[in-house]
Amino acid sequence: MSNSILSVKSLKKRFGGLEAVNVDSFELYEGEITSLIGPNGAGKTTFFDLITRFQSADSGSIFLNEKNVTKLNSYKLARLGMVRTFQLTRVFDRMSVYENMKFAGSSIKNEGFLKSLIQTKTLKQQEDHLNVKIDETLKLLNLIEMKDSYARELSGGQKKLLELGRSLMKNPKILLLDEPLAGVNPKLSEELLEIILNLNSQGINILMVEHNIDAVMKISKRVVVMAEGKIISDGKPDFVRSDQKVIEAYLGSSDD
Ligand SMILES: Nc1ncnc2c1ncn2[C@@H]1O[C@H](COP(=O)(O)OP(=O)(O)OP(=O)(O)O)[C@@H](O)[C@H]1O
Ligand SMILES: [Mg+2]
Repeated sequence: MSNSILSVKSLKKRFGGLEAVNVDSFELYEGEITSLIGPNGAGKTTFFDLITRFQSADSGSIFLNEKNVTKLNSYKLARLGMVRTFQLTRVFDRMSVYENMKFAGSSIKNEGFLKSLIQTKTLKQQEDHLNVKIDETLKLLNLIEMKDSYARELSGGQKKLLELGRSLMKNPKILLLDEPLAGVNPKLSEELLEIILNLNSQGINILMVEHNIDAVMKISKRVVVMAEGKIISDGKPDFVRSDQKVIEAYLGSSDD
């Protein structure tokens, strides 16, 4: 059994009369690509918001590598390696692709790969290293040719790639992707899946919310299903796909 790197206990969030999240227990294991699926409104994004502390839970606790991070802010969590993307991309349209990347990379300059540089290198050397990291990441994402374009000139799919790139500048150990393939054309989706697999093989743990079930089943080692705020199934893709509870709540529905 792999190590649990993220552990969530009794996490709850209500919006008025609506129980958006009520998760008894959730673990993320080292090395895996895990997907979180479920119908619209199931609470997937809210769950991401709670564990990355973009919203506070009403109750419950969150442990990152056994450290209790329940009260940490999202900025500190990112410094500890837990980084997320947003369902609606948050790239800065009026900045260039390069500036978007640089801004993301410099926002955690006291941690990760920059930490050692700051201690030993001059400002010029730090800048050079940041630029190397930006170029490497943009190449990985096939965005290098758009480096000097304004973000607003990118297609919807390319914006998703840039959103991912901005997260990668923070050197995540756990990367939470909220619908990375939504609005992305099939060809770019294939590329993105390859990139996600590649990142995982480099040691980045991935938790992905996604409605594209074929993609989910293809790349996930484990699939967790939410409905009405609760986890209703959890296991290998084949197990989840044939779980009657999942078929009733999600896979069998005509809209999806
Ligand atoms: N800030 C809020 N105030 C009130 N209700 C909210 C708020 N945010 C989310 N909700 C409600 O909580 C429920 C869970 O929403 P959430 O966005 O987490 O679902 P989701 O599983 O991510 O859905 P989707 O697949 O459509 O993105 C929904 O009923 C939603 O309307
Ligand atoms: Mg959502």
